[in-house]
Amino acid sequence: MTEIKATNITWHEGHVTREDREKLLKQRGATVWFTGLSGCGKSTIAFTVEHALIQRGHLAYTLDGDNIRHGLNKNLGFSAADREENIRRIGEVAKLFADAGAITLTSFISPYRKDRDQVRKIHQEAGLPFVEVFVDVPIEVCESRDPKGLYKKARAALAEGKGMGFTGVDDPYEPPTNPEIVLRNVDITREEAAAQVLNYLESKGLLGNGL
Ligand code: ADX
Repeated sequence: MTEIKATNITWHEGHVTREDREKLLKQRGATVWFTGLSGCGKSTIAFTVEHALIQRGHLAYTLDGDNIRHGLNKNLGFSAADREENIRRIGEVAKLFADAGAITLTSFISPYRKDRDQVRKIHQEAGLPFVEVFVDVPIEVCESRDPKGLYKKARAALAEGKGMGFTGVDDPYEPPTNPEIVLRNVDITREEAAAQVLNYLESKGLLGNGL
């Protein structure tokens, strides 16, 4: 639970509404939240969706786990508390981007259901669409891909009796119970996976047609 230390602060309304920005951009702001194991293809799909949206004339932006941990969240590790704080911050940043009118794509393992549900809640409270995308790939497949060699490292650490708290190996991953989209990202291309997300956004009127 996050300790609230900010006191004596007052919310200040600006002069421009979200609707003004959405009219300017001819789209609705929304957050599309990819979750899944390391190596399941979250970032690849998110970046492909982002590219397709930009090509279609939409403002889209991807917040990527590894990238954000180079900057904003470089002071966080992989303990449960740090992962919670990682997701809390990104949830707030995604909400701000969506409020600014961007179609915001996030790519984080986000292993804990309660942390993802909390991000969903703050979006709902702000009247912003939140689309949870479970990139569902068996651990054996992620491990055989091992693009960063981290599964190998995690297995070696485990064999030495140390362990490194790597998601899916010796740290938990809680799959979503009711995600908007499930992508079985096995034997399909990144374009096919991205198309499923784009079709969903279109079908829900989230690409702002008619604004
Ligand atoms: S999260 O669990 O807090 O959501 P996040 O998506 O930001 O994780 O970062 C995951 C990335 O960090 C992985 O893709 C991997 O490259 C790297 N990483 C380093 N150590 C770990 C670890 N112990 N568990 C999972 N990922 C790790």
